[in-house]
Amino acid sequence: MSFPIDAIRSQFPALYESRGTIFFDNAAGAQLPARVIDAVKDHLVHRMVQRGGPYTLSREVDDVIERARAAVADLVNAPDPNEIVFGLNGTSFMRLVSQTIAEQRGARNEIIVTELDHEANISVWLDLQKRGFTVRFWPLADGNPRLDLKDLAPLLSDKTRLVAVTWASNATGSLVDVAAVADAAHAAGAEVFVDAVHYLPHGPIDVQNTGIDYMACSSYKAFAPHMGFGWGRKQCLDGLPAFREYFIPDVAPYKFEIGTYVYENVAGLVAAIEYLESVGRMCGADGDRHQAIHHAMQAIRSYEMTLSDHMLRGLEKIPSVRVYGLRKPSDRTPTFCFAFEGIPPAVVCEKMGGRGYAIRYGHLYCPRLIKRLGLSEDIGAIRASLVHYNTKDEIDGFLEALSS
Ligand SMILES: Cc1ncc(COP(=O)(O)O)c(C=O)c1O
Repeated sequence: MSFPIDAIRSQFPALYESRGTIFFDNAAGAQLPARVIDAVKDHLVHRMVQRGGPYTLSREVDDVIERARAAVADLVNAPDPNEIVFGLNGTSFMRLVSQTIAEQRGARNEIIVTELDHEANISVWLDLQKRGFTVRFWPLADGNPRLDLKDLAPLLSDKTRLVAVTWASNATGSLVDVAAVADAAHAAGAEVFVDAVHYLPHGPIDVQNTGIDYMACSSYKAFAPHMGFGWGRKQCLDGLPAFREYFIPDVAPYKFEIGTYVYENVAGLVAAIEYLESVGRMCGADGDRHQAIHHAMQAIRSYEMTLSDHMLRGLEKIPSVRVYGLRKPSDRTPTFCFAFEGIPPAVVCEKMGGRGYAIRYGHLYCPRLIKRLGLSEDIGAIRASLVHYNTKDEIDGFLEALSS
């Protein structure tokens, strides 16, 4: 079955009402289906009240939150909706888990971070050095934007508390086999914290199959409004000594969700997950919501591989362009990091911005990776990041504008 790209695009008002903008900056945040925008508005009009009150509208807010937990549990195949923690963004969940782990320092006081990661999933762990932890870096394989398990093995020991690793690089799109990382870490008695912020809109997630322990996600990269959520295995979350007011139960998710968060965005998140389910149904899925979403994400992944191949072939034809990323579409997301010989990324992005192409440049919040790739942190590289509503026609226009 072919990918229903027209039916998909028609659901995103921004693609038609954005004054000619072509959205190739999706790794910084994706556009919203109309149903998500409607759900946010519906919440604001009909139940803009605090949860936990003994009246109808407040009970409806409670219901939205519980429906969202169940929807996210289906999105990532969590066995228990109470393993889903809502919050501000991906980084705040990383920080929350790192701080509570710091409270528990014992014989296992080493953390492994990687050279491929976004700085968020490095710096929250580096910060634990001042609490007596040692942080070790899992290096890139031969200077390529890729992690090799053989380079992880010598770092693991009976001192390792946790491996913090990304599922996909937001700079180069490189994928990591997080299930294999979990196997290696668990064999050494350590836990795994996965940054799935970049991966979430690009492929299926099954936290039970991968065997990971914690995962951070940003909803706004996955067709929902600005907010984030975390997932952790219930026994891991319940075991962490989180800060909470004394009358809040000492169990997940409540002990991690201090204060009020943005309920209208939680309502939007439910609609975004329903959108993904509908993509699965359009692509022929039967079965329950998790199965339909899984089907959608597999179809999205296959379609995005064709986009990757098309973009890489085009970029390879521009003689002064160097791509920093893996060549095989199956090893990556459609996120392209590249630079022109002799033309600063800032100049290229200004020119492309003027032609309607939303792209960005710089260290892409991965300054360590950028330096290891032989680039300067200050100048950085260009990033074009696509998702499943982008097309080969948009890529063709982009390549033409880039070359002229
Ligand atoms: C891979 C990755 N990790 C972490 C983050 C930080 O996410 P947030 O802004 O939701 O805290 C980003 C944001 O771009 C990202 O791409």
